[in-house]
Amino acid sequence: MAQADLNDYGYRTFKLGNFTFWRDEYFAHIEWPGGSHLAPVDKFLKALIRDVAWNFFYGVVNFDEVFGTTNHYGTVDVFAGLYNPGYTARGRQYVENLNGDTARAIFGDMLDDWTVEGFDPFAAPEETGSAFGPKRGNNRRAIKRVRVVAKRMAGMKDDTPLRNDHNGYPVNRQFRDVPQDEPEVHAEPGFEDEVHAFNFFGYLSRSDVTWNPSVCAAVKDSLLCPTTEEFALPVIHGNDRVEWFIQLSDEIHWEVADRETGVPRARAVMKPGDVSAMPADIRHQGFSPKRSMLLVWENADPTLPDLYAKKKLKPNPVDF
Ligand code: PHB
Ligand code: FE
Repeated sequence: MAQADLNDYGYRTFKLGNFTFWRDEYFAHIEWPGGSHLAPVDKFLKALIRDVAWNFFYGVVNFDEVFGTTNHYGTVDVFAGLYNPGYTARGRQYVENLNGDTARAIFGDMLDDWTVEGFDPFAAPEETGSAFGPKRGNNRRAIKRVRVVAKRMAGMKDDTPLRNDHNGYPVNRQFRDVPQDEPEVHAEPGFEDEVHAFNFFGYLSRSDVTWNPSVCAAVKDSLLCPTTEEFALPVIHGNDRVEWFIQLSDEIHWEVADRETGVPRARAVMKPGDVSAMPADIRHQGFSPKRSMLLVWENADPTLPDLYAKKKLKPNPVDF
């Protein structure tokens, strides 16, 4: 790349539709016809890496109260102010519907160029370096991690492997007390590849990332997506379907708000064993004071967003 294409801080500028993205030492800057926004660059990169890794996730990924994406599974809306009444009340929101692969490729290039040596946007604050300053090196090892997506279940034949000290997944500093023994499996002859069990807590204790649900077991559209959490979820997720949460260890505080406006609706403090069904019409953000284990249960049925949008399904799956 010619030096002329780099800004004074050594970073590239990116265009996506009519949006322009650039960074300086501290901030990501976003510009669009009629407006502009900035976000601390560490916060922006932590949201960006998840939006890229999750292929825009389910529904809305708010990077903050202004900028984000809405997944239409093939295309994606990239927006500014669309879910912020301060913008919408004055008609100042801006949204472009773009090809999902194109948007993801540009976001991926931006993530690659703007992530400096030592900064790992998936890691807990104590496990990562600084995102600030002029361009220095890169951190491809951190940003090109392959997302765990089990076909059947982690550790089965031809499936995503279990984790151990030898394949790069030592027990995390916060989970040293988690037992590492494995269950014994005695399968009938011929069923060795069909019967399987593993120490789920041991597996999670070796996760090297935070706030990154990964598919560890799948039965048709039913996806078990456990994740380890520490500090704050770097996005505010707007659901397009119900999500079930089971708190496996420690504690997460959830702020739950109206998906469209952000008006607060509830706070849920989840302790080990607590189960919640997050409605299909909310946005939420989690805060985990210590590293914790959370099981997110997703229903990947592609017909769900439309059924909720047309109110053929109630946003809450249970009435108390
Ligand atoms: C969610 O928005 O539902 C979500 C995202 C990431 C997590 C956990 C939950 O790690
Ligand atoms: Fe969610």
